[in-house]
Amino acid sequence: METKNKNNSVILRLEDVKKYFPVRRGFLQKIHGWEKAVDGVSFEIERGKTMGLVGESGCGKTTVARLILKLLESDAGKIIFRDRDISRFSEKEMKPYRKEIQIIFQDPFGSLNPRMTVGQSIEEGIRILGKHAKNRNQRLETLLKMVGMSPDSTDRYPHEFSGGQRQRIGIARALSVEPSLIVCDEPISALDVSIQAQIINLLKDLQDQLGLSYLFISHDLNVVGYLCNTISVMYHGHIMEFAPSEDIFNHPHHPYTISLLSAIPDPDPDKKWYSKLSNGRIADSDGVPEGCKYQDRCSIAETFCRKEEIVFEKVGENHFVRCWKAAKNHGSSPD
Ligand SMILES: Nc1ncnc2c1ncn2[C@@H]1O[C@H](COP(=O)(O)OP(=O)(O)OP(=O)(O)O)[C@@H](O)[C@H]1O
Ligand SMILES: [Mg+2]
Repeated sequence: METKNKNNSVILRLEDVKKYFPVRRGFLQKIHGWEKAVDGVSFEIERGKTMGLVGESGCGKTTVARLILKLLESDAGKIIFRDRDISRFSEKEMKPYRKEIQIIFQDPFGSLNPRMTVGQSIEEGIRILGKHAKNRNQRLETLLKMVGMSPDSTDRYPHEFSGGQRQRIGIARALSVEPSLIVCDEPISALDVSIQAQIINLLKDLQDQLGLSYLFISHDLNVVGYLCNTISVMYHGHIMEFAPSEDIFNHPHHPYTISLLSAIPDPDPDKKWYSKLSNGRIADSDGVPEGCKYQDRCSIAETFCRKEEIVFEKVGENHFVRCWKAAKNHGSSPD
């Protein structure tokens, strides 16, 4: 993927990142094959902006998040954070970067210790940051206020709060170390719809206030469209399409993006050549033959798609697609 990192506007760039998990079978648990959870992923996130990562269950979104957080080592590729490739950094080299990249989970219990009060959890972050030593309490209050929680919350435990409030506390915990990038892994999918909007608006406000960059993971294109500047559509370990949000919604190229859009209520009636897309479930890696990973669900697949590796092609300004037919339709060809 072509990059425009020269002007320092990109905070995070993934280049051909791979993570394969061994699939073990039988009594001896021998390696039977490989689950290509992340199979050559490339994208970039601009400073102060939000990139959405969408795709259905099991396509590799959380694995991408864990690779970026370095909770998991990648097998190949580069993870460039603020111009440094952190993918092979040791724990020691990684230390200054740990604070810079934070994560918010679907279940905030993932980031909050249930045995610590809200105050203790957030204070721990403030201590790790090593700033505000003299006015920790004040900083704690400021953080709670920023996420719309009352200072009375400090002495209470996470289980005493509702899902939405817990997510706010999780956000305050993430903010306590003053990160520049927050990976949000399905942060609202467990919440009621009315609460979802509140959390999305909070994330937007915090971004405006603090200049944060977000990687926002979701299977819901509606949410992503509202929040994100750019969108990567992921399928079975591959990014199938990357573009500014408005292009994903108004000029989707990949048949998979189009099928995701058609799953959104009030679909665009103008469906043209891609109208007959099937709607199966993601196959196991074992069942994925050569060529395009989407071929079995794609109504426009041809022999070429079943034999050749399909490359990520540029089809417009900052718009890339991994489908030679879609690319050809818009001016490129497989050769
Ligand atoms: N530690 C692991 N060991 C083996 N396989 C794994 C491991 N972690 C993830 N996988 C597999 O990798 C694939 C991608 O998983 P991942 O959790 O990244 O998907 P996801 O897109 O986040 O799904 P969801 O929307 O359900 O959260 C899945 O097939 C999963 O079973
Ligand atoms: Mg996940």
